[in-house]
Amino acid sequence: MSSKTMKAIVTNGDGTYNMKDVDVPTPGPGEILVKVVAASQNPTDWKTALLHQQPGNILGCDFAGVVADIGSDVDPALAMTPGKRVAGAVHGGVSPNGAFAEYVTVPADMAIAIPETLSFEDASQLGIACYTTCQCLYQAQHLPTPLEPAEAPLDVLVWSGTSSTGQYAVQFAKLAGLRVLSTASPKNFELVKALGADEVFDYADSKTPRRIAAATGGALKHAVDCISEGMTPNQVSMSLSKEGGTISTLLPYESRKKGVQTVFVLAYTFFGKDIQFPFVFPANPEHRKNASMYCKLIEEVVSRFGLKPNPARIFPHGLASIPDGFEYMRSGKVSAEKITYRIADTPGLAT
Ligand SMILES: NC(=O)c1ccc[n+]([C@@H]2O[C@H](COP(=O)([O-])OP(=O)(O)OC[C@H]3O[C@@H](n4cnc5c(N)ncnc54)[C@H](OP(=O)(O)O)[C@@H]3O)[C@@H](O)[C@H]2O)c1
Repeated sequence: MSSKTMKAIVTNGDGTYNMKDVDVPTPGPGEILVKVVAASQNPTDWKTALLHQQPGNILGCDFAGVVADIGSDVDPALAMTPGKRVAGAVHGGVSPNGAFAEYVTVPADMAIAIPETLSFEDASQLGIACYTTCQCLYQAQHLPTPLEPAEAPLDVLVWSGTSSTGQYAVQFAKLAGLRVLSTASPKNFELVKALGADEVFDYADSKTPRRIAAATGGALKHAVDCISEGMTPNQVSMSLSKEGGTISTLLPYESRKKGVQTVFVLAYTFFGKDIQFPFVFPANPEHRKNASMYCKLIEEVVSRFGLKPNPARIFPHGLASIPDGFEYMRSGKVSAEKITYRIADTPGLAT
């Protein structure tokens, strides 16, 4: 495989990137090579392209495709056979290996098996959003999972039920038997309710934190802040009980409210390695073990309950559309949707 070349979106090291022909990667021990069918975009992709000025890295984190090759020492229990449909995430743009390419490598125990009923386009958004959801709800707060639901009533606030992670966090929390409160702009209230939110509030309304506190009898202890910047650190803190509580955050911050503990989660810690970008995060072997566990959990939740994907916005020219996708997202146009690319739509592919 390593002598073959592929098209990929590669960083130049000065904040720019280009589509280039590069070698197809070789799967290392415990890894598989995936032929990417569809890739989804996350805010981190355009931010990494601009700010992490290291040349020669392939951008893109989220992918879905089929197993093309299997490295040494892959656990046979994972049943990784060529052609198997899988999805997942890598630290694209920061490591040389990225999802905006014809092929990507991933540890076999972090490849989420996808059912025939889920399209590659929809499956390509599972990686970052679902791993982050699991880190927020289970790693950071040990909340009940859909496989071991809550036995007693428990409220959780998912701030931003329309964000990519928020749409999955609402579904995982509801399937676990929690009462889910969430926020969105009014045009998206119905979408968030259809995902399972019991109550949805307008994030731009200054009375929302007070209304959430009232709706939870002033006793809310658990929140996930899927935005974690601007007003939300204060809004989420004010929604929690007087005694405080815990907020899982997607960007790092401390709450100014007494008794509120924040736990910053970073999806890329799933590899259990030291991270320098986008934030310094020391290696935590527990996070690597969790990633393997969450992979199985996500697989089971997807196949048993059939999660609703973020509505996909497919850009027409595959990898060649990535500059347009970055601009669409960077200029704040994304609303309750997932920017998605089909690799086969890329002009000039060999096959
Ligand atoms: N730490 C991690 O591992 C990690 C993982 C994933 C994402 N992130 C970060 O989390 C942030 C969100 O990423 P994403 O991909 O989930 O976002 P996204 O899907 O691009 O978010 C877009 C949505 O955010 C909503 N929104 C905007 N401002 C809001 C506010 N003040 N309150 C509530 N909702 C608001 C909009 O809702 P309406 O359309 O209803 O207006 C829009 O639908 C980014 O900064 C990203 O880098 C971090």
